[in-house]
Amino acid sequence: MSDEGRGQWGSRISFVLAAAGSAVGLGNLWKFPYITGMNGGGAFVLIYLVCILLVGLPIMIGEVLLGRMSRSSVVGTFSKLSDGPTPWSGIGWIGVAAGVVILSYYSVVAGWSLHYVWLAISGGLAEQTPEALGQLFGETYADPAINLRYHTLFMIFTALIVVGGIQKGVERAARVMMPLLLVMLAAMLAYATTLDGFGRAFDFVFGFHTDALTGAGVLEALGHSFFTLSLGMGAMLTYGSYLSRQDDVVAASLATTFLDTLVALMACLVLFPITFSAGMEPAGGPGLVFVNMPIAFSGLPGGQVWAVLFFLLLFFAALTSAISLLEVAAAYFIDERGWSRKKAVAVTATTIFALGIPSALSGGDSPIFGAEIHWIGERNWFDSFDYLASNWMLPLGGLGIAAFAAWRLGDRARHVAFAEGSRLGAIPAIYLAWLQLLRYLVPVAIVLVMLNAIGVLKKLGLGE
Ligand code: PHE
Repeated sequence: MSDEGRGQWGSRISFVLAAAGSAVGLGNLWKFPYITGMNGGGAFVLIYLVCILLVGLPIMIGEVLLGRMSRSSVVGTFSKLSDGPTPWSGIGWIGVAAGVVILSYYSVVAGWSLHYVWLAISGGLAEQTPEALGQLFGETYADPAINLRYHTLFMIFTALIVVGGIQKGVERAARVMMPLLLVMLAAMLAYATTLDGFGRAFDFVFGFHTDALTGAGVLEALGHSFFTLSLGMGAMLTYGSYLSRQDDVVAASLATTFLDTLVALMACLVLFPITFSAGMEPAGGPGLVFVNMPIAFSGLPGGQVWAVLFFLLLFFAALTSAISLLEVAAAYFIDERGWSRKKAVAVTATTIFALGIPSALSGGDSPIFGAEIHWIGERNWFDSFDYLASNWMLPLGGLGIAAFAAWRLGDRARHVAFAEGSRLGAIPAIYLAWLQLLRYLVPVAIVLVMLNAIGVLKKLGLGE
């Protein structure tokens, strides 16, 4: 297919908006605050920030660059840039698989946000005590009917947008939703600073507390830096494949990474003051955003409107991420198998929907997939899928992408592509720093963290 035929972003800002739409999602607003709470705060946040800067950002640039160079899907990219079939294509396969696994449970959580929009509209969240809200989330989490209904609905929304081609739908939605989300978070942050618990929350998030941090926590911080930036599975690569040679890959990656990190930190600084002020535990788990935001809204004038708006924004943030997840799998069948977009979306979305059913049943008492049934370690199906994808598949995919970009791609091609359209990229020191990070630090860090997590370092008398 010619370059023109594949399509390009409508304007320069479109890529950043779509990429930020993919990056900013449940990972920032739902997952990051709750895993920060569970890992004891400060030290975890610091390690996460280091991972974002030294591992995530270089891989983001690498992924976007590979996409722009190959102009094809994540599976096709490696053979195209290697001039023929190559085992490197396996990385693309891991990517497609990771996208399928992630979307299957992501849709269940996104479904909760839809359910909460409905609860907020119907007045079900108003003037509730923290205990009652905690119980409400517990019931939502466990109820198979609610979970299946909204999982179905969310997958239909996602499929409908991806069928229509991402550009019109996503670009337009992201253009309105992203600024609105930022404004809303800023307003909530201003409110949070007035709460008693703000000081304690600030210290919890930015103070250096190492006591609760474990090797598994470090793996989680690394895994989450991939998850939150949508890295390691080709989402950014696919979006990058719609860029033109005039676009600035380095600056766009920087902007996306910055926005994503900003939203994650803001979410923590909104949620933890509420947590502490209401006398609750920071390690509250997956219910954090669904319990604490309504607590805050209950005490605010016009709280109901705020609540509807917030959960609607959460839903849209999830939708713009889900679209990029589905697009990776669909693009494979369209680009590599010659399927029509309709057929590709129908087949991939249905498969993912089916694979998500166990996750939708994970909170309840289903005899096969229920909360008491453990799959990996002590984890139910839902948590096992999240663990497998974020902590293993994405870092492995990222490792492959880093190795391919930094070692396998020819010097000249890489150097030219890096500088093309980019003022920053034309600075030799920046190119070199990026290359060295991808060549040495990124692979070593990923492998060490994984060895530590499976206990190999401990056996050797190193690590914890
Ligand atoms: N980055 C998204 C989030 O933070 C999730 C995601 C992961 C999207 C991987 C695409 C690819 O919610």
